[in-house]
Amino acid sequence: MIDNELKITLEQRVAAAVTPREAAVEVMKELQHHYGWLTDEALHEAANLLGLSPLQVEELATFYEMIYRRPVGRRVVHVCDSISCWAMGGETLLEQLAGRLGIGVGETTSDGMFTLLPCCCLGNCGQSPTMLVGDNLYGGLTLEKALDILQREREGIETK
Ligand code: FES
Repeated sequence: MIDNELKITLEQRVAAAVTPREAAVEVMKELQHHYGWLTDEALHEAANLLGLSPLQVEELATFYEMIYRRPVGRRVVHVCDSISCWAMGGETLLEQLAGRLGIGVGETTSDGMFTLLPCCCLGNCGQSPTMLVGDNLYGGLTLEKALDILQREREGIETK
């Protein structure tokens, strides 16, 4: 359950939007941030805030690949598999990262730290291949660079 402060913040965002749907992604992202993923409870809260049915919110949630309808790790690693990154080795990077993390694509590491997912263009095509870790965008990757980044992300979480 969300606290009153977050509820009021989200209500204000919905009120400021031209239509509730316009605020839907922002509301879902905030609730996802609060719960770690968009739980059923969060989905119903989003529906109440937006004045939409849970089914309508579910449909919106499944449309956006950065909204997670099942549990994910502390950091979600999105590796771009669109054309520029694919041509520069993004697909190989995704497979190699999966191997080094000991998981399949779409899975979460056993320590709950990382979930690995492919994604559409991250708008960083000039620095392919690119990945997004949480909210941090990284380009010009090699496997070694990507592993270093994940190690730093891990250390950043563990020292918090
Ligand atoms: S194709 Fe990967 S960032 Fe655009």
